[in-house]
Amino acid sequence: MLNDFIQTIPKAELHLHIEGTLEPELMFELAQRNGVKLNYKSMEEIRKAYNFSNLQDFLDVYYAGASVLQKEEDFYDLTWAYLEKARSQNVLHTEIMFDPQTHTHRGVDFSTVIEGIHAAMKDAEKRLGISSVLILSFLRHLNEENAFEILHIALPYKQWIMAVGLDSSEVGNPPSKFKNVFQEAKELGFKLTAHAGEEGPPEYVWEALDLLNVERIDHGNRSLEDKRLTLKIAKQKIPLTVCPLSNLQLKVVKDLKEHPLKKMISKGLFVTVNSDDPAYFGGYINENFLQISNALNLTKEDIFLLAQNSFRASFLDEDRKNELLKKTEEFNPN
Ligand code: ADE
Ligand code: ZN
Repeated sequence: MLNDFIQTIPKAELHLHIEGTLEPELMFELAQRNGVKLNYKSMEEIRKAYNFSNLQDFLDVYYAGASVLQKEEDFYDLTWAYLEKARSQNVLHTEIMFDPQTHTHRGVDFSTVIEGIHAAMKDAEKRLGISSVLILSFLRHLNEENAFEILHIALPYKQWIMAVGLDSSEVGNPPSKFKNVFQEAKELGFKLTAHAGEEGPPEYVWEALDLLNVERIDHGNRSLEDKRLTLKIAKQKIPLTVCPLSNLQLKVVKDLKEHPLKKMISKGLFVTVNSDDPAYFGGYINENFLQISNALNLTKEDIFLLAQNSFRASFLDEDRKNELLKKTEEFNPN
């Protein structure tokens, strides 16, 4: 019963890396199409490699997988496949992160990447009725100068990009490293988000809020270790884009039963549920909802709240937010 409720309730996805939606089947197909040699001989071998002990372990596999993406049509096919899947799970709006430096650093032009992704987003809006926006994410293991370079390369496409974000290896790469580039992005009119408190300490969440001035925190799990921070993000209604299956697969939590989502809800935090890198972590948004609901005994009220939060925490304008929120009303359990 909860299964049906989760499947049918309209929702938005706010934390999704497009490179993390590359399914093994498409990876093989693109490797063949582009003559790229993969380290795997079969689909089974790929799936076996998806056994991660931490974030870095995953990132090494994820960046290697992305090497099959070479042409505009590859980015189109990747993005179209994700949007079809998301729409089939009643995602009505999605905010897609992409990591341009992963591609420009191996000689693929920024224009190739964004034109392929954007064309699929436009087609999906028309043909599937799913809206989407783009978040350009800086790779934090690289330096701030590299981030400035990619921001400037992106400027001719500014009207296609809603926000900038910060991802990749967290520990040792605090938000403060990117203070200036986030300031410039803000002045240019981009909305701001950053991964923080996934593996990194609560101090990184403080920095993301106080130094980068982000409006949302991606993950944010470790915020709960700091009472003052927890109170601040509750009071200021800072959305946290939580990713249960990612947290499980990257050993941020040992077991979904120990996941902090329910505690976050009970402390009044503005939380949402998302899939992060669904092709690598064993599920898209509805699998995330279902497995975390089962592990934590979430109720229909909790799921309704999470679905409404997903629209409220989005970067959409108020009119579109209200239009989508209205579509959730018939699912109100009260
Ligand atoms: N890039 C893709 N997924 C990520 C995650 N969960 N954390 C940091 N960087 C990422
Ligand atoms: Zn992420």
